[in-house]
Amino acid sequence: MRLCAGQGALVAGESFYRLKLALRRLLPESVKRVLRLGRLAVQPVPPPAPRIPQAQLEGCQLLTDRIEMLRRLPQGGIVAEIGTYQGDFARAILEIMAPEKLHLADITFSLCRADVLADPRVERHEGLSVPFLQSCADASLDMIYVDADHGYDAVRADAAAAAPKVKPGGFLVFNDFARIIRPGFGVLGVHQAVCEFAVTSGWSVAFFCLEGEALYDIALRRPE
Ligand SMILES: C[S@@+](CC[C@H](N)C(=O)[O-])C[C@H]1O[C@@H](n2cnc3c(N)ncnc32)[C@H](O)[C@@H]1O
Repeated sequence: MRLCAGQGALVAGESFYRLKLALRRLLPESVKRVLRLGRLAVQPVPPPAPRIPQAQLEGCQLLTDRIEMLRRLPQGGIVAEIGTYQGDFARAILEIMAPEKLHLADITFSLCRADVLADPRVERHEGLSVPFLQSCADASLDMIYVDADHGYDAVRADAAAAAPKVKPGGFLVFNDFARIIRPGFGVLGVHQAVCEFAVTSGWSVAFFCLEGEALYDIALRRPE
């Protein structure tokens, strides 16, 4: 198949990203820590995230964990999980939300559990998150769960691509809503990117889910 210039760049970018992820998985934790320290030395600490106005937080439910959120989200519907890994949370979505369809997007499904991949409601999209999200019809998804690359630029891009695809009244959820800039723990830009998205979109925060390592989930609701 011949590829146009744009497609060629996308395929090259995706192959490079796939290689980077595979290498990262192979590296021992001690080496990863040294690399993170090096990155922190050259990467300036980002400014504090913008404050989400109180009006957008009124009515937000504070939950014990993300499983409790799945119990409170509307049942059925069309759902997407961006970043599936071994498929444990996808299994929980299937069991608790009972969606009509669950789109799973990941750069690789090689580690994903077989029962999830075999579920007839599951549609697999192997590749990068943003092109998958852009391929979805506008206002077609009841809930999108974003849990792929946790860097600032990547989450910002996922949020921008995902927002128009959420149905009015639907939910856009981000895992690992955290700001981590401490040496040895890498750099998580989810908090920064999500706060900026909340402020610019004006979407209200519907759920905030606690987690043992303070890597919280935050669910924003698209206005009706
Ligand atoms: C934290 S894991 C997902 C965990 C899963 N949501 C859960 O809770 O069980 C992140 C996954 O995102 C995938 N990933 C990372 N960057 C990606 C990208 N840009 N596009 C698609 N998938 C990506 C990785 O391959 C990995 O499987």
